[in-house]
Amino acid sequence: MTILNVQNVSKRFGGLTAVNSVAFSVEPGEIVGIIGPNGAGKTTLFSMISGFLRPDDGDVHFKGRSIRNLPPHRIVRMGLTRSFQVVQVFTDMTVLDAVTTAALVHNPMRKAIAVAEEVLETVGLAHKAEETPGSLSIQDKKLLELAKCLATQPQLILLDEVMAGLTLAEAQVPMGIIRSLREKGMTFVMVEHVMPVIMNTADRIVVISFGQKVGEGTPAEIIQDERVREAYFGEDSHDHH
Ligand SMILES: Nc1ncnc2c1ncn2[C@@H]1O[C@H](COP(=O)(O)OP(=O)(O)O)[C@@H](O)[C@H]1O
Ligand SMILES: [Mg+2]
Repeated sequence: MTILNVQNVSKRFGGLTAVNSVAFSVEPGEIVGIIGPNGAGKTTLFSMISGFLRPDDGDVHFKGRSIRNLPPHRIVRMGLTRSFQVVQVFTDMTVLDAVTTAALVHNPMRKAIAVAEEVLETVGLAHKAEETPGSLSIQDKKLLELAKCLATQPQLILLDEVMAGLTLAEAQVPMGIIRSLREKGMTFVMVEHVMPVIMNTADRIVVISFGQKVGEGTPAEIIQDERVREAYFGEDSHDHH
């Protein structure tokens, strides 16, 4: 069964149509990449899927059920979680506390701590459990972000530029973790600017430009696509992070 079905969602901010009737679907165990220039509407699309913004038009189905009117915490409980583009750091927490907080979605405290410890093992941060998130390197902050997603015990994870700020070499560690999680059946939709990362990892890519879907296909197909090239030549003149 299709795990995620995004049905012609639109979002307007005043006079600006940030997302304009975008539709795509995701099958269980897929890694779907979303690419597009800065300001194309990718984060707004993720916010609509995860319940932080309600679509003005269209619907989102997760595991066959409409989630369009559900608040974010209900959607997380159903098994759909997202990362945030801005890495949030609470200085008075340890790494373990931060991940445990996420694990409380499905578990009482004692079990949540156990889940958090297991997740920290998975991402290779177990030895940093008692450190503060603020003291972590940029690479480890990204792994913590992934750990917080995993701690909610999701079936589908939306990752919004989690590799931003990493070199291609540094991105190999989180990408390896994501690939191995996928082998175990986890599903990912990821917005990513580091092109070699997304091209080497995604099964399928959706291209967004000016709020609209302008292409979809395998990485090999996308590289050939004229409209995608246009969208991307446009991107080269922009500054993005
Ligand atoms: N809360 C908001 N209010 C008004 N405009 C917004 C808001 N969020 C995003 N936008 C605008 O919507 C467009 C798409 O933004 P965004 O989804 O963040 O793009 P991307 O993630 O692809 O860079 C941009 O023009 C942005 O300025
Ligand atoms: Mg964004």
